[in-house]
Amino acid sequence: MLMTDIIIKKRDHGVLSKEEIDFFVTGFVSGSIPDYQASSLAMAIVLNGMNQEETVNLTNAFINSGDVVDLSMIKGPLVDKHSTGGVGDKTSLVLGPLVSACGAKLAKMSGRGLGHTGGTIDKMESIPGMRVVLTHQEFVDQVNKIGIAIVGQSGKLVPADKKMYALRDVTGTVESLPLIASSIMSKKIASGADSILLDVKYGSGAFMKNLDDGTALARIMVDIGRGLNRNTIAILTDMDEPLGNSIGNILEVKEAVNTLRGQGPKEFLELCLEAGAIMLGQAGIETNHTRAIGLLKSKITDGTAFQKLQEFVAAQGGDITYLEDLNMFPVSRYIKQVLVKEDGYIAKIDALGLGETAMRLGAGRQKIGDTIDYKSGIILNFHKGDAVKKGDVLLELHSDKLDEVTAAMTYVTSYFKFSKEKVIKDPIIAKVIS
Ligand code: URA
Repeated sequence: MLMTDIIIKKRDHGVLSKEEIDFFVTGFVSGSIPDYQASSLAMAIVLNGMNQEETVNLTNAFINSGDVVDLSMIKGPLVDKHSTGGVGDKTSLVLGPLVSACGAKLAKMSGRGLGHTGGTIDKMESIPGMRVVLTHQEFVDQVNKIGIAIVGQSGKLVPADKKMYALRDVTGTVESLPLIASSIMSKKIASGADSILLDVKYGSGAFMKNLDDGTALARIMVDIGRGLNRNTIAILTDMDEPLGNSIGNILEVKEAVNTLRGQGPKEFLELCLEAGAIMLGQAGIETNHTRAIGLLKSKITDGTAFQKLQEFVAAQGGDITYLEDLNMFPVSRYIKQVLVKEDGYIAKIDALGLGETAMRLGAGRQKIGDTIDYKSGIILNFHKGDAVKKGDVLLELHSDKLDEVTAAMTYVTSYFKFSKEKVIKDPIIAKVIS
């Protein structure tokens, strides 16, 4: 079999066989198929898609490329969640401690930033001392002891996706339904989850740009999960504007802490509560949705959810004094405010534009191996539907790079549309698919 034939077949809209997909994945992982051929095939898949059978075969080839984690030693209801990626998405840092404080066990593998979106692992690493690599035994012991562990994807687990993910990030091949579905589901299944909540983002800041594409992605992932006997539910959530007020690693960690202390942005909290209630239902801890929301809220009010975050950070070597006093985190050399020019309402915010701006300020990688400046990013003071007045601080830009901050000052307002009329906001969760 020749890799060039496989690329040409997909380029010409052909359907790849299981053998061809296995040949590609095995060769890519072993190094006999070079990155340039893998990225060429990835681009052909982005452009011409894959049918359901090809996507399932790709998912299975990814799973078979490495180890499958055995979490049978974990006692208690195991839950997992995964977001398809968005701007300002720090949900795992809140949802994990929250459901764990209610008795669920979260043993989660997370990713790094991809394209204009941030990743939980980068956010965790912005807390001094925090380890994102644990041995399997440490991982299992920690979940048994405190109910939560989040680690980076181990090199042994789905190595095909690890390699492919890094390649896609820098070759414009992220936005593809079969590539995203196989990437996410292979990791979730190989990492041993019993029940999986998929947070499928749609909108300008997501990889799926509209609700229909998001729904198609959710449907295929739920079908893959259920086909492999995992209790899988997907929520479709709005990523037309950034989630919460902060974009950038340390800024998002601070927002997660504030949310667990009961001072988070309203919409972000709402998403965490709704998603948490579904996870508690999947875990069989509380199947009544309203009562589950009440239980989650009580864990914020009585401080146990924040305590759980501290236990989790401490268990993985992180310095929790930073969480207790958020002023200990370093701040950017340049913090510039952008002001509102006229009274009105915010009609639209381009999350992609803001995600890319945050990346240029230092919060994300533009190519493999780039280092992240954890301090940098954006703080938004308003969301879609909010009334604004001339002179209000629309947002703050945080960076050590004066040239990038100066440039962003001139263009960042173009990512906002203003209206003289009141603007109605869409609900944060558009659909639940099970
Ligand atoms: N998250 C993943 O794990 N993989 C993707 O391809 C996109 C988002």
